[in-house]
Amino acid sequence: MARYRIGLIPGDGIGPEIIDEGVKRLDRISELEGFDIDWISYPYGADHYLETGELLPENALKKMSSLDSIYLGALGDPRCEPGILENGILLKLRFYMDQFVNLRPIKLLEGVSCPLRDPGGVDFTVVRENTEDFYVGIGDRASIGKSRQHLEVLRSLYSVKFSLDVEVDGSEIAYQVGVMSRKGAERIIRYAFDLAVRKKQDRVTAVDKANVLTSMYGFWREVFSSVAKDYPYIDTEFNFVDAITMWFVKKPSWYQVVVAPNMFGDIITDLGAMIQGGLGLAPGGNINPEGVSMFEPIHGSAPRYKGKNRANPVATIWAGALMLEELGEEKSSEAIVNAIQAVLKEGKTLTKDLGGTASTSDMGDAVAEKLNTFY
Ligand code: IPM
Ligand code: MN
Repeated sequence: MARYRIGLIPGDGIGPEIIDEGVKRLDRISELEGFDIDWISYPYGADHYLETGELLPENALKKMSSLDSIYLGALGDPRCEPGILENGILLKLRFYMDQFVNLRPIKLLEGVSCPLRDPGGVDFTVVRENTEDFYVGIGDRASIGKSRQHLEVLRSLYSVKFSLDVEVDGSEIAYQVGVMSRKGAERIIRYAFDLAVRKKQDRVTAVDKANVLTSMYGFWREVFSSVAKDYPYIDTEFNFVDAITMWFVKKPSWYQVVVAPNMFGDIITDLGAMIQGGLGLAPGGNINPEGVSMFEPIHGSAPRYKGKNRANPVATIWAGALMLEELGEEKSSEAIVNAIQAVLKEGKTLTKDLGGTASTSDMGDAVAEKLNTFY
């Protein structure tokens, strides 16, 4: 019998409540389908940080490298400096585990109301690069005068060091450097094409802003075109990021697989979440196809709703289904998505964000009941 060791990071805000619903559903499907999950819990998040000053220690990361996967609730807390938990835990994990794919399905399920008047079928996947671009975290400020600054990016694929002589006149400045590597662009673009093949889709759209940020995104286009040659039967197109936000609203049914650099991928997937019915329904996976992947809802920790049993757990339960798919438990994964679909289509149990009155646990229970009816 297959046995998976899954790291569990409930995190902050509504994280613990929603992850609890996810864990229960995954435990149930493992019973029904006959595999085992060992959950290994980690305390990292705001409370742990405020008590101990520790974000995510190196030795924990090392141990987590032997897990089969990681299941994450949400991170972020208004008591901590902005970005500290996001950088020190979430991005740290993505980079350390080299989870270079951020997989975000944008699928409008039946029964879910969409803010667009006439959406057609919304069912596409955004493949977001997850380690590079403006997320490499290098930049600085420079005051008037001369200075020398050192910037460094360490990745498993490559490392890069910049030494800058900065000479500023007139005003203090701040700058941020984006980095894209040929290997980094190639692997994410190839993943997108392979995904299209796997899903029997025939179009891959690349997102960029090559008309303005010509160096980094000109490079991106060049790599995209060269990878595309290996998939002659798949149609390709380039969309500027501003234009794709317009098209997501105007004609989302056009899209099949969309591949985007990190920051644009971040931005367009919040829009994607809205056209699939809201953030409460949008799951994501941070995937390293040969390493430890991590699954989470794409929404944040919603601190205002902490402990209120009010948040929608569907994005998290769905993220659990993505995790099962990645682990090779396709049938279980499908059953969970089908159960979510059935609950939403029926429309009897809906959380507040979907216009209903159901609690977090009501919603989880409704998914569980549907799941049972399949067996
Ligand atoms: C996301 C989030 C993160 C990101 C933040 C919290 C670092 O917005 O997962 O989309 O920008 O990737
Ligand atoms: Mn985001």
